This record gives sequence, structure tokens and C-alpha cells, in this order.
Amino acid sequence: MSLIKESEEYLLHVVKDLGYDIEKVELVPSGRKEFGDFQINVAFSIAKLYHENPRAVSEKIVSRLDSRFINVNIQGAGFINLSFSDDVIKNYFNKAIDHFDMLYDKMDSRKIIIDYGGANAAKSLHVGHMRSANIGEAVKRLLRLLGMEVIGDVHLGDFGRQAGMLLSEYKRMYPNSVFFDSSYEGEYPKIDLTDKDLGIMYPKASLAANEDPSRMEEVRNITLQIEKGNRGFVNLWNQMVEISSESIKKVYDKLNCHFDLWEGEMDSFKYIPRVLEIMKPYLYESEGALVCDVMKEDDNKPMPPLMVIKKDGSSIYGTRDLGTILGRIERFNPDEIWYFTDERQSLYFEQVIRASYKTGLVNENVKLKHFGFGTINGSDGKPFKTRDGKVMDLASLISLIKDEIEKNIKDEIKGDEREKIADTLSIATLKYADLLSFRKTDYIFNPKEFSSLNGKTGPYVLYSLVRIKSLLKKSNSDNYSIIDLSNKEVSEVLIKILEISKILERSYLDATLNYIEEFIYDVLSLYNKFYNDNNVLNEKDENKKNTYLALSKLVYQVIHNLLDVLAINEVEKM
Ligand code: ARG
Repeated sequence: MSLIKESEEYLLHVVKDLGYDIEKVELVPSGRKEFGDFQINVAFSIAKLYHENPRAVSEKIVSRLDSRFINVNIQGAGFINLSFSDDVIKNYFNKAIDHFDMLYDKMDSRKIIIDYGGANAAKSLHVGHMRSANIGEAVKRLLRLLGMEVIGDVHLGDFGRQAGMLLSEYKRMYPNSVFFDSSYEGEYPKIDLTDKDLGIMYPKASLAANEDPSRMEEVRNITLQIEKGNRGFVNLWNQMVEISSESIKKVYDKLNCHFDLWEGEMDSFKYIPRVLEIMKPYLYESEGALVCDVMKEDDNKPMPPLMVIKKDGSSIYGTRDLGTILGRIERFNPDEIWYFTDERQSLYFEQVIRASYKTGLVNENVKLKHFGFGTINGSDGKPFKTRDGKVMDLASLISLIKDEIEKNIKDEIKGDEREKIADTLSIATLKYADLLSFRKTDYIFNPKEFSSLNGKTGPYVLYSLVRIKSLLKKSNSDNYSIIDLSNKEVSEVLIKILEISKILERSYLDATLNYIEEFIYDVLSLYNKFYNDNNVLNEKDENKKNTYLALSKLVYQVIHNLLDVLAINEVEKM
């Protein structure tokens, strides 16, 4: 358990002993450090509840506190300020230095499926998919750290018009292929296409279909046939999905994203008939399609019905999400399902979630939650595009960062090693920038700023760690402890680190990583200030030197573990 939580439990005990029945006491970092490191403001709520004077309440509380706290004082109308005794700090951190899990608190375990990534087969990954991957992966790791059981699913966009497009194009290339022969009963051959080929075929087909209505009709028809289970079409499309998945996986690997389930929209097909059965009483026909009303009386924004079956009898995106939900509930029985997509899909998810509860597809105690995120914008404030106005794909984004990152690497690092460091640093830079703003906030893509060695950036964090690692290595020992707290800069870092338990909890509650990144920056800034003001290795006083090294190791452990939550890799030099 974290020191903060343990102390809060103790304080609650003290307050209850005084006869006040309240739920919790919070220990918060003090706004005015001259009065103490922490502050307790509980006297005000007690005073209100029990019609007493807050200062008098504070005095009673203070009179009961034991020696774990020092410098206890009451300010203003009843703010209690205090600090932890040196012994408490030393004991706690000397254990935590090798046990990161002593620094934070586990939460009630829930089983949560996280739906993130969402790349589309046979289309390139764009910046939205990267955000979903970065945020989803980090949230997944955070939840696991906090004790949840989490299943991550990529929910591949493996079905849609692109399927029909690609098959129609394949038919142009190989008109006599057995995939299109409905009387063929044998095994299908392996197709000889690369992901690059698919990348050329898709736009070509798309262009042709947009110009020629009969081609578009063919595309629609093929797409429908795949859904209906046409053997040859399904086999051909599955092979294309397989080819595309392989290269998508490589990109996710680069981003350090690893999914427990590699399932897609097509995996929902088998659940759709049952979804329709369950939803039947709520579906009605509208312009030939089947829809479900999801409006509520107190809605203050337009809430159109959710379309469930198209005029031609085929499923759409939403139908496949509903099928996926049914499958997930039946197979995994989760407490919650969390979705991470662009904020622009939030209305859609609201419709899907409402329809799920309303029709009884999902029971009220399973929580479906959509977490939207903001867009990455260009310097014009509009969604970041390539020069010719296309959506920026992920590969181009990475290379824009890499061009800048090169400047941060020392000249003497050469060849393969340099290349590897540049890759790791580029991804770290991109990810750090991507997780730095509150999840819903849009941000401007600025490779120069993201790559700077100063400020809230990947290079600043990784460089700080490189320095600490080198210091620890040079010290030639591995048995440090915090003995001497006379150096104010040391305690400042330690007190900051105590905040980690609350930071992680807040990140979980808001499903956002910016608090963690701000915290990493704050800890490292305080530590770097200490590092610049003190010559650790030349310190003559052994107790001080030992303390400084222990502090360095602790800081390293803390940041290392947090970077692991963010799925950011370190470098050994740069
Ligand atoms: N493939 C979708 C897209 O590119 C994202 C999938 C999000 N997840 C979901 N269950 N709908 O927009």
C-alpha cells in the first residue's frame, strides 16, 4: 500500500475516534510548502456536518496525531499542514526502492475488454489509428498495473466496401480465376500478392467504381456475397486480410502495441442473426432499412436512430459492433468494455451503447464506455494532412519525427547502432507527444518541439534516464539506502514521488495518460536540478553519497515503470 493511502486510513481512524462519522480523509500536496509538505482540509466538511468551528475540529485532530507526522500546524480557518517524519520517509523509500508496487494502490479487480487499434485491412494506418493504439495500449497496461484483468482486442476493420473493391480488381487481373467460379469445389490456390499490391489495387478500384455505376454495383454485390458466405469470395478476401494483417502487425509492433485478441468485424457475423432476434421488438423499417430508435426524452442534441440492416439486407459497421458485443459477453463475461476511437465517432458509440441496453442485448451491470480522443492537427489548426490533402499515414508521421531526432544523437554513435537508437527515440518521441495532452484535446503536430532535448518530450525523458543509468553504473555498487535527508533537493524529489498513487488513480478514472507524463516530467525536473547542483560520485560524506545514489536508483525505477505503462522503450545511450 502507498504511504499516502496508509496515512489516509490512519487519519480516518483518528477522525472517527473523535466521534465524526465521515467517509474519507484526503492528504493532498500542500499549496504552500513553507507550512508543510501535505495538507488536510477535512475540518471544513466535518464542521459543516456537525455544526462546529473548523479550527476547533482541526485542533482536536492535531492533538491526536502520532509521531509519524512532524511540523504539524493549523493555518487560517482550519487547514492542517504537516510533513512526514524523516524516519517514515526513509523506511518507506528504502523498501520501495526494490518494490515499485509499494508506491501505488491496487483497485477492485474488474474484467475489462479494451477495443483499440481498429486498423482497417487493406488500407493504410492513419494518425487516428495510431492515437487509438497509443492510448489504448497504455490504458491497458495501467489497468493491469492497478490489478484489473484486461483483454485487448484490435477489432480489425476487416470488412466493408474495400473487400468488394479489391475482389473486383482481382477479377480484372485474373478473370478466369477459380475464386469466381461458383461451381468450383476444390481447394483454393494461395494468391501471390503483397501488401503493396493491395495498396495499389484498392485506390485503382475505388477510382473506377466512382466513375462507373455498374462497377460500383459489382463492388456492392461482391461485398454482400462475402457476407453471405460465397465460398470463393470469402477465401480470396480472407487471404487478402491475412496479407494485410501481417504488415499491420509490424506497425503495431513498432508502436509496442500487443493485442490479446486479433479479431475483426467479420468475426461478428456468426452473432448477427441472434442480435437481430434479440433486437426484433425494437426494430422498424425506415426507407427500406431496419433501424432502432435510441432517443431519450431529455436529449438536448439530435440522436438519430441506429441503422441495423441496410436496404439490401446487409450488415453495417454498427451491426458488426453489436454482434461483437454479444460475442464478447458470451465468451468472456466482462464487467466492462472500453472503446478508444476518435472523438468524431462518439455519437455513433452513444447510439450503439444505447441500443445495446435498450434492447436488452447488454445487461445494465455490464458497462460499455466509449473514450474519444482529439485529432492531431497541422499548424493551421485543421486535421493534419499530407501536402496533397490526403490523410497522413503513420509511416510518414514517423519519418517526419525521425528527421528531427537524428540531431539529438551524438556523432560518435554510428551505423546500425545509430539507426536502432534513432528508431527507438523516434517512436518514444511520437508516443510521448501523443499522450501529453488530455485525451480529448486536439494538438498540433510539431516535430521540432516534440524532439527537443528540453521540456516535456520523449528525448528529455530518455536522456535523463541515460544519465542516471550511467551514474549508477559508475558508482560500482548496488546496495544503496536513503540515510541522510539534510539535502532539501533530495526530499523534494521524494515528496513528489509520493504523489504517484493519486496520479495513477486519476489517470484510470479519466482514461488519459497526460497526468502520468506531467508527473514524469516533474519528477525528472526536480531530480535533474538536484543532479546539477550536487556532484554525486565525488561526494565525500559516505551517508550522503549513499543517499544520493539511492535517490537516483529510485527515480530510475519509478520512471522506468511508468514508461512501461506508456509502452515507451528506453535507449542505453544517445
Ligand atoms: N476500424 C474503425 C475505423 O477505422 C475503428 C474501429 C473501432 N472499434 C469499434 N469497435 N468500432 O474507424
